Amino acid sequence: MISLKSHINGPACVGPLYFQFEIMTAATPFIEASSPHVMNTYARVPIALSHGQGCRVWDVNGKSYLDALGGIAVNTLGHNHPRLVPALQDQLAKLIHSSNYYHVPGQEALAKKLVELSGMTNVFFCSTGLEANEAALKLARKFGHDKGIERPEIVVYDKAFHGRSIATLSATGNPKVQAGFGPLVEGFIRVPLNDIERLRAATADNPNVVAVFFEAIQGEGGINPMHMDYLKAVRQLCDERDWLLMIDEVQCGMGRTGKWFAHQWAGIQPDVMPLAKGLGSGVPVGAVVAGPRAAHIFQPGNHGTTFGGNPLAMRAGVETIRIMEEDGLLANAARVGTHLASALAGALAAELATGMVKEIRGQGLMLGIELAKPCPNLVRQCADNGLLVSVTADTVVRLVPPLIMTTAEADEVVRILSPLIKQFVQETP
Ligand SMILES: Cc1ncc(COP(=O)(O)O)c(C=O)c1O
Repeated sequence: MISLKSHINGPACVGPLYFQFEIMTAATPFIEASSPHVMNTYARVPIALSHGQGCRVWDVNGKSYLDALGGIAVNTLGHNHPRLVPALQDQLAKLIHSSNYYHVPGQEALAKKLVELSGMTNVFFCSTGLEANEAALKLARKFGHDKGIERPEIVVYDKAFHGRSIATLSATGNPKVQAGFGPLVEGFIRVPLNDIERLRAATADNPNVVAVFFEAIQGEGGINPMHMDYLKAVRQLCDERDWLLMIDEVQCGMGRTGKWFAHQWAGIQPDVMPLAKGLGSGVPVGAVVAGPRAAHIFQPGNHGTTFGGNPLAMRAGVETIRIMEEDGLLANAARVGTHLASALAGALAAELATGMVKEIRGQGLMLGIELAKPCPNLVRQCADNGLLVSVTADTVVRLVPPLIMTTAEADEVVRILSPLIKQFVQETP
């Protein structure tokens, strides 16, 4: 049994908050909601979460929240899933890590499954989204070098987000992410979304282009979908020009939109597909899935990682997919996502009509509500009211909850969120 108490350290509730997390049978360690020894890289909400169940989480102070953020599109199965947790406990007791010196049977099991779901052929495992994207960028460059192209160039997009390593932040289309880290990696050509003529013009007569790289639905950029006809047109262009089509499904993949991978709505297949986030339902798992044109570019010694594909990560991936299939979570994401989007549109109809709410967009359980003004403060206001969301691209409230969310929970999201948005948009800037 767990009891939770809060203890404000210092007078007048200023300064760091210290929370006492008391387990009845044990000593009482302190858990801090401030982190003076951790590098200051995140503008954090002053909440420390303690535990969760399904789509609900509790902070160390005992306050509960409905989780519409899912660890930023990571907690596919929510929290404390009754079949995932015992499977992971079983794996923990057997083998956590063995290194890639040896065969890891779980790698073949998860790769076989990803190949089956994607229609592609081979997988490289890593641990995070940026690592998966780094591998994709290396694949594209080597694809070029193998064809005799010495300075390969890759097409990337405005507002894209691909990670925070030097190469992936160079591919990212957000000057804030890049500021202070120059010189950026060369070899990227940037184009706007959903404009095939601009893509043609930007690459015309350029023999160094080797790949086109984008998110099927941009996540950090503000929930910006690539249009179906654009996806098809780019696939065709890549075929005509012998370029790799590389689709970053790190955030929009793994069932979030109601298909395993968001590009599948357009009936196309990429040559390279980085995955991470939802693949391990909270355990770090990254993967690069490749089709026949990219599957054999890497040879022994070309790429590798210590942690990638370890037995614990592989078990998390295999069990996540198994449970998603058993429980029909793709259909759930589509159904609950449609319900959530239309309930939000109904509740915010007046604000949509006046333009104070510009648009509600996305697919399945990857939704963005774009306001006419920056709204980072809404994150804290929602948390105060028991709802976890994020704001991305300054003006877009992002909902990427666990794929187990029910329609009743979606209704609760609307009940908490819509009055806060209504009030927020009325306030003077
Ligand atoms: C589309 C996309 N690609 C890559 C990344 C980077 O993933 P990670 O933070 O695991 O490195 C993210 C993270 O938000 C993402 O949304």
